[in-house]
Amino acid sequence: MDTDRLLQQLTDFLRIPSISTLPAHSADCRAAAEWVAAELRRLGCREVQFLASGTHPVVWGIGPEVPGAPTLLLYGHYDVQPPDPLDEWTTPPFQPSVRDGRLFARGAADDKGQVFCLLKAIEAAARPPVNFRFLIEGEEEYGSRVLFDLLRREPQRTRADAVLIADMAYAAPGWPAVYTALRGLCYAEITVRTAKSDLHSGEFGGAAPNAHEELLRLLGRLKGPDGKINIPGLYAAVKRPTRAELASWRRLPFSETHFLKQRVQAKALAGLKQHSVLERLWALPTFEIHGVLGGFTGEGAKTVIPAEATAKVSLRLVPNQKLKTVERQLATAVKRLAPRHVQASVRFLHGADPAVVPVDHPAFLLLDRAFREVVGRGTVAVRAGGSIPVVPALGKSGAPVLLTGIGLPDDRLHAPNEKLDLKQLWDGIKVFRRFYELLGGKGVGAKS
Ligand code: BES
Ligand code: MN
Ligand code: MN
Repeated sequence: MDTDRLLQQLTDFLRIPSISTLPAHSADCRAAAEWVAAELRRLGCREVQFLASGTHPVVWGIGPEVPGAPTLLLYGHYDVQPPDPLDEWTTPPFQPSVRDGRLFARGAADDKGQVFCLLKAIEAAARPPVNFRFLIEGEEEYGSRVLFDLLRREPQRTRADAVLIADMAYAAPGWPAVYTALRGLCYAEITVRTAKSDLHSGEFGGAAPNAHEELLRLLGRLKGPDGKINIPGLYAAVKRPTRAELASWRRLPFSETHFLKQRVQAKALAGLKQHSVLERLWALPTFEIHGVLGGFTGEGAKTVIPAEATAKVSLRLVPNQKLKTVERQLATAVKRLAPRHVQASVRFLHGADPAVVPVDHPAFLLLDRAFREVVGRGTVAVRAGGSIPVVPALGKSGAPVLLTGIGLPDDRLHAPNEKLDLKQLWDGIKVFRRFYELLGGKGVGAKS
């Protein structure tokens, strides 16, 4: 493998600040889509198209035809999350830089580095006997609405013998994983208004209502200090993991202490203490506050009573919760918890249903074998706390959805100093190359 050349190519991809949620970066998203399209053409795709123009394009490709060979759909995303806070990056997010065998950049692990792996594995296998389809989107980090609508109109795009997604991490270093479930998401803005306009806090303070105070009280009521979410009906649909699942999670290389000390790096964990940390991360809904806007937040001091305040919040959803139901439940709870003199409203930005992914199809044995041959250990079944909105839609046609990845748990996705270990990258190319060969039948007889 010409690792220097590959690293150079990945660096070019990572240098493009394709931040899907910020309108100012639309042209960058397009540039990242062009980068993917050029790669697909280089792989000999018969068809490369931008679908759903108007927003960040979905890159669609059809690989060279191999009669009689299985069809594999590769899904990934070229968009990334905003890189702020910028001053916490050791090197700038869009100037990829290698230190200690790790590549630091926004998107290194989520998901450009992993899309790169899937594509370069095809090149490495020199035309594997597989009919490839590509669906590489640019709005995953903003809810995938475009691709979602597209797949509703054109479900035949997902017709395949298997779907492969590399947008996740190993369970632990040395422990490749396949994912049996993803959480869903319900992202919203809660706004409260208490008066017609802002007021002088001396003239009116003590007698006029304060929007920030009301908002914070409202947020405080939505989740108690014990971690219980106070939204009527929210837990009703939550399906408990089976005993077998809980037992298998206890056997995973996961330590709550290590998780607290090394990964969270806080003084204590939060949430429903009567459940294990993995249950809290994988099988229970959450309510998080992402940011609060309004009032005076500039430098210096201004004595004002804000009339309006907004919180950006989200809930993670678990099997068998439904996005539509949770949206209704949240809106109702906000109305009910706000005092009569406060105008409270909820605006939904995006969301996703949770996904349950059966892992019993024979294709999973091939992936397991590919990992076993390349990294010395097969896959363990885990769940993800994160979300990929289109996963339920990708599995609708009945094809198995192989959700896996070559990241590591400490890659710091969405956070400063996101990275990808180069060893994971090179191994990943070999693993997917082997998987393609096994799927195509060529490598089945080879020794393992
Ligand atoms: N790759 C992640 C999802 C993920 C993260 C899976 C960690 C497993 C472990 C994906 O890019 C992501 O961040 N999704 C968003 C989706 C949302 C914006 C709709 C998420 O989970 O916040
Ligand atoms: Mn991702
Ligand atoms: Mn992400």
